[in-house]
Amino acid sequence: MATTKKLSTLFCLSSLFCLLFTINQAVSESEHMETFCNKASRNTTSNSTTYNTNLKTLLSTLSNQSSFANYYNLTTGLASDTVHGMFFCIGDVNRTSCNACVKSATIEIAKNCTNHREAIIYYFSCMVRYSDKFFLSTLETKPNTFWSSTDPIPKSYGKFEQRLSDKMGEVIVRSSFLSSSFTPYYLQDITRIDDQYDLQSVVQCSPHLDPGNCTTCLKLAFQELTHCCSDQLWAFIFTPKCLVSFDTSNSSLLPNHSGAFSIRGNNRIFGGMVLGAAASVFALFGL
Ligand SMILES: *[C@@H]1O[C@H](CO)[C@@H](O)[C@H](O)[C@H]1NC(C)=O
Ligand SMILES: *[C@@H]1O[C@H](CO)[C@@H](O)[C@H](O)[C@H]1NC(C)=O
Ligand SMILES: *[C@@H]1O[C@H](CO)[C@@H](O)[C@H](O)[C@H]1NC(C)=O
Ligand SMILES: *[C@@H]1O[C@H](CO)[C@@H](O)[C@H](O)[C@H]1NC(C)=O
Ligand SMILES: *[C@@H]1O[C@H](CO)[C@@H](O)[C@H](O)[C@H]1NC(C)=O
Ligand SMILES: *[C@@H]1O[C@H](CO)[C@@H](O)[C@H](O)[C@H]1NC(C)=O
Ligand SMILES: *[C@@H]1O[C@H](CO)[C@@H](O)[C@H](O)[C@H]1NC(C)=O
Ligand SMILES: *[C@@H]1O[C@H](CO)[C@@H](O)[C@H](O)[C@H]1NC(C)=O
Ligand SMILES: *[C@@H]1O[C@H](CO)[C@@H](O)[C@H](O)[C@H]1NC(C)=O
Repeated sequence: MATTKKLSTLFCLSSLFCLLFTINQAVSESEHMETFCNKASRNTTSNSTTYNTNLKTLLSTLSNQSSFANYYNLTTGLASDTVHGMFFCIGDVNRTSCNACVKSATIEIAKNCTNHREAIIYYFSCMVRYSDKFFLSTLETKPNTFWSSTDPIPKSYGKFEQRLSDKMGEVIVRSSFLSSSFTPYYLQDITRIDDQYDLQSVVQCSPHLDPGNCTTCLKLAFQELTHCCSDQLWAFIFTPKCLVSFDTSNSSLLPNHSGAFSIRGNNRIFGGMVLGAAASVFALFGL
């Protein structure tokens, strides 16, 4: 299912210094997007063998569980060696793809975040996370990552930002009534706008958020997406607790509307988490 697309990666070290890489790369649904590793989530510097053993078991269990469910959480170990973990797949991803995605993610996160007390990895279709502190029901917006088209919205679309904002606001409200459905909080909406183009809006929260925090998470994520990408044909943001995306298309033009494709990771350091992906890109280019 992989297709070759132009992929741009932009990393900003500060507002004055950005690096842009453009490469041609095969992109598939289960493509890895970004990894964040963190050595210490709190007041501990212990490098415990027991913790690492517990982590191994946890990742293996998550991987195995993804053949049965679209999300799962668990806790292993005792006291300072306790590890909490979870995964979830995006709502329209089938069980086979979910399993493949989580499998890759657990292998990658074990490889690239060796000896880290917490980590989070985002793929196009899933996310996997572990930590030595309990995080399931808390609302967090960092570290996040977003991707967008590099093609701007055509002028003929008129008041696109307004239309997008109105529609997404409505979708977020509707999603808050979905908390106990099969795929918690996942909602996809496709609406024809101004008889000109189709606007697809997608929202999803982590199943452990309560409805109030889910709504807040989606609003904050959309706000962030508006800042970076509301003049683009499509965009997608993944935060630790929710995701928001939109896509525009003209039925008569489908499926060829998105030629260029970009990945933009914001490498800010939040909550002590450092952008592992940026570091590995720099290493790759000898910077
Ligand atoms: C870590 O926590 C212990 C008590 O739990 C405290 O005595 C120590 O000062 C803390 N260290 C840091 C760096 O916060
Ligand atoms: C943790 O311990 C392992 C093996 O004992 C060692 O290879 C690794 O460098 C240590 N990591 C840290 C952050 O101390
Ligand atoms: C996951 O499945 C594999 C293969 O069936 C098995 O070897 C492994 O023990 C399982 N992991 C856990 C934690 O149950
Ligand atoms: C998942 O987390 C919830 C708390 O949010 C907990 O009640 C539940 O037992 C956890 N599930 C597993 C399998 O540990
Ligand atoms: C699951 O989705 C993938 C990717 O969209 C597709 O290739 C595959 O055929 C689907 N599998 C099933 C069983 O529907
Ligand atoms: C893991 O690290 C290797 C080498 O540093 C890199 O090629 C790979 O893309 C990384 N994977 C992830 C998921 O970060
Ligand atoms: C959000 O979750 C926290 C627990 O993490 C809870 O105390 C708070 O009441 C929730 N907020 C809303 C608006 O539901
Ligand atoms: C979308 O397609 C319709 C019907 O083919 C056409 O009338 C309309 O102008 C197109 N809109 C844009 C923005 O290209
Ligand atoms: C998409 O565009 C390419 C050239 O840009 C063309 O060769 C291809 O046939 C188009 N595919 C469809 C399904 O329209």
